Amino acid sequence: MRNILALFLILLVSIFLLGTTRLVKETSTSSFPKSSQHQTRHEKEFASVFDNGCNVFDGRWVLEEPSSRPLYTEDTCPYLTRQVTCRRNGRPDFLYQKWRWEPRGCHLPRFNSVALLGSLRNKRLMFVGDSIQRTQWESMVCLLQSSIPESKKLVYRDPPRKVFIAKDFNASIEFYWAPFLVESNSDHATKHRVHRRMVRLDAIAGHSRRWQGVDFLVFESYVWWMYKPLINATIGSHEIREYDVVTAYRLALKTWSHWIESTLNPQSQKVFFMTLSPTHLWSWEWRAGSNGNCYNETHPIHGPFWGAGSSLDIMEAVRDAVNGMKRMKVTLLNITQLSEYRKDGHSSVFTERRGKLLTKEQISEPNAFADCIHWCLPGVPDTWNEILYAYLLYSTSNQR
Ligand SMILES: *[C@@H]1O[C@H](CO)[C@@H](O)[C@H](O)[C@H]1NC(C)=O
Ligand SMILES: *[C@@H]1O[C@H](CO)[C@@H](O)[C@H](O)[C@H]1NC(C)=O
Ligand SMILES: *[C@@H]1O[C@H](CO)[C@@H](O)[C@H](O)[C@H]1NC(C)=O
Ligand SMILES: *[C@@H]1O[C@H](CO)[C@@H](O)[C@H](O)[C@H]1NC(C)=O
Repeated sequence: MRNILALFLILLVSIFLLGTTRLVKETSTSSFPKSSQHQTRHEKEFASVFDNGCNVFDGRWVLEEPSSRPLYTEDTCPYLTRQVTCRRNGRPDFLYQKWRWEPRGCHLPRFNSVALLGSLRNKRLMFVGDSIQRTQWESMVCLLQSSIPESKKLVYRDPPRKVFIAKDFNASIEFYWAPFLVESNSDHATKHRVHRRMVRLDAIAGHSRRWQGVDFLVFESYVWWMYKPLINATIGSHEIREYDVVTAYRLALKTWSHWIESTLNPQSQKVFFMTLSPTHLWSWEWRAGSNGNCYNETHPIHGPFWGAGSSLDIMEAVRDAVNGMKRMKVTLLNITQLSEYRKDGHSSVFTERRGKLLTKEQISEPNAFADCIHWCLPGVPDTWNEILYAYLLYSTSNQR
């Protein structure tokens, strides 16, 4: 199984080699709702979720008519990159945008961009990780930006960061490229090294000095580790050794958690960790006897499902690291299971590769070219953000 995984990843990781400078347009127009009295009603909504001990990660995907999803469209959000705009790239079906996540036993609070902007006033929210996190950042920006008039918002690049600013709120929502969290030779924001990767398991300062004062940090790191069962890495000296991936991952998290514990302020800063984003590379896992991947999938999986690509050893490493923290409490956003169901949510052949949309020939060979790692937007990462939103508003209302 690992060999197959490795093979697919060699192929698909080349998708990470986008290296393109994507231009960001500002074309949206909308009026700014002035009301902020919603805030207290919303705070009550969150309390009803969390104070009753609801597990928001346990539930099911539902389709309603009329559907309340998507929460934005490809046309209403000017900040989406071509990697994620599946419909514009030719995807013929659209149900994948319409499913709503329903936790067992409670409702997720309605996403209210004005309420979130209120909580982010004079603050920074930063997503740290790989291209999966970049998609989550894009999703968050799209969820937030609709309530802000054009002249009051902007996106700029400051590699390895991409930054969205809501001017009137002095709020920034940022993405920081660090695919291994710790330092590596894949850290260049656009020219990532994919082959011959080398991770410095005990070195993080090169990144972390730029995370230091951030109010809300959201971390994620998985797929870059899973290229081969072994990974080249260093600790201390410059001697490069091959480490078992899970061992290396644990050592990297140790470096990461030590930085968090020794540097951040539990009173004023908040840290989240996203569990791994699942892939759907082998359709036989959900349809016995088939030989495809996520291509052509239009509906979520119903009933229990856990793909072989989602390493339980990595899950355990994350849990141990988070449970081992003493000063800082890190909130685990365990989005793996809910995303496992969404074999229909990936960008498949309706995306770009090395900065270009797939050619007709490539599209006709989905087994070789479908991207079953990344997600379409609007789509699954919007739900991750609805959950993050609930935690953020709940934690900021508790601080007051
Ligand atoms: C704007 O926000 C930054 C943090 O993002 C903060 O350091 C700064 O003090 C804020 N400016 C004002 C005028 O409040
Ligand atoms: C580690 O680096 C050596 C030397 O470049 C290379 O031969 C080996 O294949 C690498 N191992 C892995 C797991 O990439
Ligand atoms: C994908 O779906 C289309 C339309 O239903 C069908 O014609 C085609 O054979 C399917 N392709 C694969 C590879 O399953
Ligand atoms: C996340 O949830 C799944 C079940 O949905 C569980 O198997 C896994 O251990 C959890 N991961 C962590 C890190 O707690």
